[in-house]
Amino acid sequence: MASTDRFGYEWDKYDFILPHYEEQFLKWVYPLQKEDFKGKKVLDAGCGMGRNSLWPLKYGAEKVVAFDADERSVKAARRNLSDFENAKVDFGDIYTYNPNEEFDIVFSIGVIHHLKDPKKALQNLAKYVKPGGKLLIWVYGYEGNEWIVRYINPLRKYIFSKLPVNFVHILAYIFSFPLYLYVKIFPQKRPYLKQLKGFTFKHIHSIVFDQLIPEIANYWTKEQALSLFEGLKSIKSVKIYPVNNLSWTVIGEKIESN
Ligand SMILES: C[S@@+](CC[C@H](N)C(=O)[O-])C[C@H]1O[C@@H](n2cnc3c(N)ncnc32)[C@H](O)[C@@H]1O
Repeated sequence: MASTDRFGYEWDKYDFILPHYEEQFLKWVYPLQKEDFKGKKVLDAGCGMGRNSLWPLKYGAEKVVAFDADERSVKAARRNLSDFENAKVDFGDIYTYNPNEEFDIVFSIGVIHHLKDPKKALQNLAKYVKPGGKLLIWVYGYEGNEWIVRYINPLRKYIFSKLPVNFVHILAYIFSFPLYLYVKIFPQKRPYLKQLKGFTFKHIHSIVFDQLIPEIANYWTKEQALSLFEGLKSIKSVKIYPVNNLSWTVIGEKIESN
């Protein structure tokens, strides 16, 4: 079962939009603000159940196109975005997807770090950014996640990603239950753990499960995350921002054509 199928299982099971997703989205797309989406054409690459496409639509985007390489994810995104006539959800592979149009904002959130060839995916996405438009990705950071890289990554790579996904969903309780008790009982200083404190057990379980299912999960240093945009000849002014001191948002602008 490829990672896309495993994520499909997740998005089919956890397809509900939680209020907290808006705050999360705004952190992931910073420095973009709500107003930046108004009247804009937006592409969401690897949309999962569509939770990140929803907010640009609410902020008045002219059009949002979302795509994913898994049919269950596509169906869940279509359900979540069904109120918006200006939303379209396609089945497509990030390496080859061609929307046949250009967008003001192209983003890919939580996808690039799961890919075998992240640069190839970005080369493809860069083609569909309008001159003057933005290309934005959010990826896991290495800094602050060293323990995951050391202890959880090998378990995920050699054990969890090989087991049937419904069994991993059960095994995830081994981690989610202690984590839930820990964040609820003890005062938390770190921004991400503080955020978890307000979540339900089901939500925390879904986050742990999400961490255990993919075969590939790269945790990149600041330099490595920045270097993903190297070689994108049409993208300039690349900037990087930390999110919760655990992950990175990288954003660049498409050069204006002469
Ligand atoms: C961790 S999920 C993130 C989903 C969504 N962006 C979000 O933040 O809720 C990763 C998503 O990337 C999708 N994906 C993985 N490889 C892909 C590919 N080659 N082409 C398109 N989507 C892909 C998966 O199917 C999955 O829905």
